[in-house]
Amino acid sequence: VADRTIEEQLAKYLTDVHAIEEQALPQLKAAPKIAGERGLAEIFSEHLEETRVHERRVRERLEARDAGPAKLKDAAGRVTGVGFVMFARSQPDTPGKLVAHSYAYEHMELAAYELLMRVAERAGDQETVEVARVIATEERAMAGRLADRFGVAVDASTTRAQTR
Ligand SMILES: [Fe+2]
Repeated sequence: VADRTIEEQLAKYLTDVHAIEEQALPQLKAAPKIAGERGLAEIFSEHLEETRVHERRVRERLEARDAGPAKLKDAAGRVTGVGFVMFARSQPDTPGKLVAHSYAYEHMELAAYELLMRVAERAGDQETVEVARVIATEERAMAGRLADRFGVAVDASTTRAQTR
């Protein structure tokens, strides 16, 4: 691993964040139905739109670096898949669990972009640095919106439990 070139390393980080965004899409599509509260449902719907842009911007950087769809497909089986495993294990079935899972997922994304930013910096790919910086800001903001609604999520979870 140590003898990897910085370009190979950058391609791998880009491929990983692309997979993380792709895995976020079905989760964010499902989230509003589990959210249990309108305001909470809305922030998931809004982040779905942001995430579609994230996926596209990362894909464009991969394509610009000649790691386009064919290579992407090839790499799909090799990514860490940490997001999918997290989702499969936690199976958020209440607003509280959903917010906890999503808060963790946003921070995983944030960490992935912080790393990508630094690898791109070392590889001299300023466009990727900029894309990663902008997306990281949006992931951090989403995590903040979730944190603001921990109480709402607990209320929605307990209301649901009581009426069950
Ligand atoms: Fe996100």
